[in-house]
Amino acid sequence: MILAIANQKGGVGKTTTSINLAAAFAHQGKKTLLLDLDPQANSSISFLDVSSIQRNVYDALIEGGCELRDVICHSSIIHLDVAPAQISLAKLESNLIGQFDAPFRLKDKLTSIRDDYELIIIDTPPTLGLITVNALVACSHLLIPIQSSYFALEGTDDLLETVERIKARPNPDLEVLGVLITLYDKRTILAKDIYTQITAVFGAKVFKTVITKNVRLEESPAHKESIFTFAPRSSGATEYAQLSKEVLARV
Ligand SMILES: Nc1ncnc2c1ncn2[C@@H]1O[C@H](COP(=O)(O)OP(=O)(O)OP(=O)(O)O)[C@@H](O)[C@H]1O
Ligand SMILES: [Mg+2]
Repeated sequence: MILAIANQKGGVGKTTTSINLAAAFAHQGKKTLLLDLDPQANSSISFLDVSSIQRNVYDALIEGGCELRDVICHSSIIHLDVAPAQISLAKLESNLIGQFDAPFRLKDKLTSIRDDYELIIIDTPPTLGLITVNALVACSHLLIPIQSSYFALEGTDDLLETVERIKARPNPDLEVLGVLITLYDKRTILAKDIYTQITAVFGAKVFKTVITKNVRLEESPAHKESIFTFAPRSSGATEYAQLSKEVLARV
């Protein structure tokens, strides 16, 4: 499975979900690659030292002579590798403009390594531009995190329209695996209303697992750890472990 985590809305939990799902799979003994397609590089920095990153995904996507294998780093978690991003990835759009194979760069580069991993998780930036399109063309499944907030569903129409366009041509097999409600605050009535609103739109696509607000999830990247080693008893650890099972059950 190649699972893209995408929503062009910022701060909805894409990176938190990418890093902790990837760690959950690795802890289950599954060879996993976390591929960071966000120039902000938050996923990469959650597991790697910035100084240890020599080349990044941008180099692999732009240079003919550079393969993803050449940029992949081992993380401190057994079974988890990271294909890191750096700020240079922000130049991708301007560099690929006008290239006929621009949306297919990631898909093409993944061919040589996809069999090395049971799962590949792709973290994407908060845009619907060429970077996210590359992820949607290359992936088999899409997970959409939606923040439990007043404007939760804002923008999802545009995202789903992009998904339909990509399914129509470059990636007919693309499947929306599910919608994940994140940053949920159990105590508020507003959160319950938003939950109802999201399930009314997405129905059975909404994962039963809901990720509640948990400060431990915010803290763990600074310690270069996933939630499973940083705070194994936290609600975040329980919920992301549960989500990993639900994800696998849907494939
Ligand atoms: N369940 C949660 N509980 C508490 N804080 C969370 C939770 N999920 C995410 N956060 C925090 O919210 C902020 C945004 O989350 P995150 O970086 O995962 O979102 P994102 O969608 O990747 O953002 P961007 O669009 O900028 O890439 C981060 O500071 C993160 O630590
Ligand atoms: Mg992010």
